[in-house]
Amino acid sequence: MPAPPPVTISLLPRPTKAHARAGHFTFGPDTCLRISSGAEPAAQLLRTLLAPATGLPLRSAEDAAVVLALDPALTGLGSEGYGLTVGPHSVLLRAAQTTGLLRGVQTIRQLLPPQALAASPQRGVRWSLPCVEITDVPRHRWRGAMLDVARHFQPVSYLRRYVDLLALHKINVFHLHLTDDQGWRMPVAAFPKLTEIGSHRAQSMIRAGSDDHDGVPHGGAYTRAELADLVRYAAARGITVMPEIEMPGHVRAALAAYPHLGNRPDRVLDVWTRWGVCDNLLGVHEDVFDFCRTVLEEVMDVFPSPYIHIGGDECPTVEWEESPEARARARDAGLSSPAALHGWFLGRVGAFLTRNGRRPVGWAETGTELPDDFIVMAWRDPAHALAAAERGHEVINSHHRATYFDYPQSAGPQEHPAQPGAVVALRGVHAHDPVPEGASPEAAARVLGTQAQLWTEYAATPDRLEYLTYPRLSALADLAWSGPTQWTDFRSRLDRHVPRLDALQVSRHP
Ligand code: ACM
Repeated sequence: MPAPPPVTISLLPRPTKAHARAGHFTFGPDTCLRISSGAEPAAQLLRTLLAPATGLPLRSAEDAAVVLALDPALTGLGSEGYGLTVGPHSVLLRAAQTTGLLRGVQTIRQLLPPQALAASPQRGVRWSLPCVEITDVPRHRWRGAMLDVARHFQPVSYLRRYVDLLALHKINVFHLHLTDDQGWRMPVAAFPKLTEIGSHRAQSMIRAGSDDHDGVPHGGAYTRAELADLVRYAAARGITVMPEIEMPGHVRAALAAYPHLGNRPDRVLDVWTRWGVCDNLLGVHEDVFDFCRTVLEEVMDVFPSPYIHIGGDECPTVEWEESPEARARARDAGLSSPAALHGWFLGRVGAFLTRNGRRPVGWAETGTELPDDFIVMAWRDPAHALAAAERGHEVINSHHRATYFDYPQSAGPQEHPAQPGAVVALRGVHAHDPVPEGASPEAAARVLGTQAQLWTEYAATPDRLEYLTYPRLSALADLAWSGPTQWTDFRSRLDRHVPRLDALQVSRHP
């Protein structure tokens, strides 16, 4: 068996404190786990993650060398922090809450040789990790990644892999963009046509702003059982799946299924085959609010997430301005104009979620337009994140120039077609501090964190999704967990992280 490699501790994200010690601990077939009450999910995850490559059984035993301990008295570790002590003869992983242990399991995995992450048995590898003392607590509570499965559907088997890769990076929110103009992917029992009609489009635009279409039908929807299973799978990795149901815009697929929900019930629309901003909106009559409540009741049934995203972005209000019914509604509600129906609409639906114990989340385009109880996802400009935080909102800074992974990673001719309009380079992702410049301490405290966005107009296959996601997500995860780090420090850790991505066969950008 080859000698263990020299001691190098290179973790991504970077832990708060790590002190290397001399020596190694080596896992073998007889290495056992002592699992304290409440630590079972961490033991299960460690076994699941290490089994394919190592074949280690990691049996339970009282006098085991590896201890997974839950200790609620360790309050300084918060809900996700953990302490890890690796000595030559023992490993002790401790946390105040189960989620902290799940984060620590990912650290143990990263301390092992990269072959430990492979999907098939690896022979002749010594499963050693360097002796180390780690205390690790995330800087930000919200470390998210959004995947748009509306523009291009992905099977739930791939979503599980996506979640696995997020978990490796200690991401804690998987934001699933389930509905848009081009497809509705979640079944709702009371409105079967949402998926029967709304999940299929005739073809897709090839380039934004052109009339070139590919002539290839696209479609797909999840079953309720698949989504519930995904929620459980993610929870076992310490990840919340936050669903997004877009309204009042980005609803063309729903209107194709149920024209009476729109502003022109007489008009038959197709599921949109173009990319860009669509003018069609939900109407503002009571049938529409019944629809929203029924859909969200089913969404809340499937997704236990404390947060429910209801979109709110890119909502041209022309249809409301042209509709006598919408104009009357605005007048009756005492609004200054039909455009103000946007906030009124989101306020009504948001209040429904709040009454049901969930927090509404919305995209913001100014930072000050969403109702008070919304968590604001500021995507256009960091100034909007600042404005929202100063107004008292909790904020997720999702600035498109640093977190939109649908943009290409370089301007080079080797890049595949991607979202036109900007380049989001690795270095720019790394430099994006979620706390906007000029934030007061109170406003800064309301910045929950940041998240990556992967809109999929130009990314149809898992290979393309991973090429766009990695290694940029490694930079975003590092920043969200550790806060800003030196570029050279990040780069050297990324160089040692890449073999892990390669062991997992991630189709990353070079
Ligand atoms: C968005 O990019 N429309 C949120």
